[in-house]
Amino acid sequence: VNDREMLERRDREDPLAAHRDRFLLADDLIYLDGNSLGPQLRGVHGRLTAASDAWRERLIRGWNDAGWVDLTDRIAARLAPLLGVTPAEVCVTDSTSVDLFQALVAARRLRPDRTTLLIEEGTFPTDRYVAGGVADLTGAEVKSVPRDRLAAAIDDTTAVVLASHVDYRTGHRHDGAAVTAAVHDGGALMVWDLAHSTGAVAVDLGRWRADFAVGCSYKYLNGGPGAPGYLVAAAHLDDPTPAIRGWFGHARTFDFAEDWDPAPGAARFRNGTPPVLSLTALEEALTVWEGVDPASVQAKAEALTNAFVALVDERCGEVEVVSPRDARRRGAQVSLRHPDAYAVMQALIARGVIGDHRPPDLLRFGFPPLTTRFVDVWHAVENFSEILATRAWDTPAFHRRNPVI
Ligand SMILES: Cc1ncc(COP(=O)(O)O)c(C=O)c1O
Repeated sequence: VNDREMLERRDREDPLAAHRDRFLLADDLIYLDGNSLGPQLRGVHGRLTAASDAWRERLIRGWNDAGWVDLTDRIAARLAPLLGVTPAEVCVTDSTSVDLFQALVAARRLRPDRTTLLIEEGTFPTDRYVAGGVADLTGAEVKSVPRDRLAAAIDDTTAVVLASHVDYRTGHRHDGAAVTAAVHDGGALMVWDLAHSTGAVAVDLGRWRADFAVGCSYKYLNGGPGAPGYLVAAAHLDDPTPAIRGWFGHARTFDFAEDWDPAPGAARFRNGTPPVLSLTALEEALTVWEGVDPASVQAKAEALTNAFVALVDERCGEVEVVSPRDARRRGAQVSLRHPDAYAVMQALIARGVIGDHRPPDLLRFGFPPLTTRFVDVWHAVENFSEILATRAWDTPAFHRRNPVI
């Protein structure tokens, strides 16, 4: 049963409930879009103000005495436990798209005799676009196959397999260890896109034996709009070579040496001067994960999404649940299909229930485990069922398109 009292009781018993207080979130806001842009931690504003002061007062000296030069290493150390790797395997830099480019080129170079980059049909557009660019650049070709046919499609031409651990549209979650093992059995290298995974479900790249991974920090990691991405290059890889060899990826950046000498580990994938202001916000945001067990995060994601699916089934019969019904195969996300998904979502947003829309017909709801209350699930479905029953979404204002959906 998922009545309101029951969900309120689950909030009282939830070991992660207290974490929500560390975020700036209005009590009456049902924010189910932390999978697009995570909310702000309370400490972030102060840290950004201090960074601005340090810039003003310390100027160039800030690199040494305000800790700017070590920011990326400190963040890598905070991220590593969430990814199941060591800090030396993590590089925080650039956008996910650039990190993906770097990971794919490096992986392709480690399999020079193989010429196919295998990707998923319907994958996130940047993954498809970047893979196409890398194929052109490295003399390879891209092959797209359905998500459930990846393992079967590997043959002795497959250099690299790129897959989203959690699919951005359906929320389907791969078995990270099983897919990586199948890729290795076929002699290829595995690159994971973790944009919808880290901070939402348990990720254990070390146990999976993954080769590379990329992800972003503005969704479930709450780094702020446009916060930098990260690239994981596993320690078992034999000297991956970055396509972009920048001076910050040099072993001794401030030697200003003539030749490029790669920094040890994933740090070689750094290239230019790090974005201190956004890294400062991210460093503060990651403090919320101290002492949080990824297994408990995943358990809560499963419980929240189970409650949502059950209530939608019960109260909103006309929509189709697109996400897997088995929570073990789902991220912290549930997608529903409705022919007027965009307008329905606008109507929900107008009532303070914020999710998003993915074309052509998906309503997407994210349930970040540190900030979502069980009772939010109740309010979301209550509003949703009313909007559907009254067709409140069917007004010109809700059909008008915003530039960012
Ligand atoms: C699965 C996936 N990969 C990559 C990206 C793009 O990342 P970026 O804009 O940081 O390059 C996103 C953004 O939403 C995403 O959902």
